[in-house]
Amino acid sequence: MDSAAAGTPLVDLVDVTRTVILPDDEKLHILRGIDLQVRVGDHTAIVGRSGCGKSTLLNILGLLDIPSSGTMVFDGRPVDKLRNNARAKLRGSSIGFVFQQFNLLPGRTALENVVTPLMYGGRREFWRRNELGMEMLERVGLAARAATQPHMLSGGEQQRVAIARALVRRPRLILADEPTGALDVETGQAVMELLDTIATESGAALVTITHDLNVAARARTRYRLDAGVLSATDQLVAVGVQP
Ligand SMILES: Nc1ncnc2c1ncn2[C@@H]1O[C@H](COP(=O)(O)OP(=O)(O)OP(=O)(O)O)[C@@H](O)[C@H]1O
Ligand SMILES: [Mg+2]
Repeated sequence: MDSAAAGTPLVDLVDVTRTVILPDDEKLHILRGIDLQVRVGDHTAIVGRSGCGKSTLLNILGLLDIPSSGTMVFDGRPVDKLRNNARAKLRGSSIGFVFQQFNLLPGRTALENVVTPLMYGGRREFWRRNELGMEMLERVGLAARAATQPHMLSGGEQQRVAIARALVRRPRLILADEPTGALDVETGQAVMELLDTIATESGAALVTITHDLNVAARARTRYRLDAGVLSATDQLVAVGVQP
């Protein structure tokens, strides 16, 4: 377990909006008054139709984008007070991302992909990168494929490498955007189980965006995002997501 106990607030969004100005000067209100708390040890799923603002919300949670209004506190720090490089540093040390299309670097081995985040970390992590990378590859059951390039790996294996990369700096928060979207049902379930287990073991919070009912059903807390409005839900069938 990480130093912080389960249940400690990690991310707190209060009345967060994200508005963009379109070329015709119209305003597009992508997120409207989002209140969301993620605590250490939480596993949260957010479901909703295409275009409802899921990735926009995930980018804000991941410190890749900033709210247009409202407040966001990450690990006790008000995010709007952070300068860009402080935000990037906090993102690198505290957040791991898993994407639908894996986003592995082609032409690099699995191990080289996994250690990429350690190139930007502290000196200790940098010098220990291969050892830490191998530990993570072992954790996802792919130590034997460390020297293999992504194009030689199956989709499920590529996503496991991506999970190893997301977790190699021991982030407090793991953000997954449709992590099973490019995988068949069985492989997707195995990948989610792995993500769940590793997140729990390392005391990280996991937020997953998904259309997949099986994935959402695994989470302990579920929300529905509908045209930029977030609400807690237990009725997954009613949210219009595809099974
Ligand atoms: N920078 C931007 N400028 C203009 N429109 C944007 C911008 N970012 C997002 N949008 C629009 O906001 C809406 C929400 O986008 P977002 O990517 O968050 O949706 P999503 O729920 O992740 O959809 P999907 O399930 O298809 O990935 C979309 O209509 C999108 O076109
Ligand atoms: Mg999206």
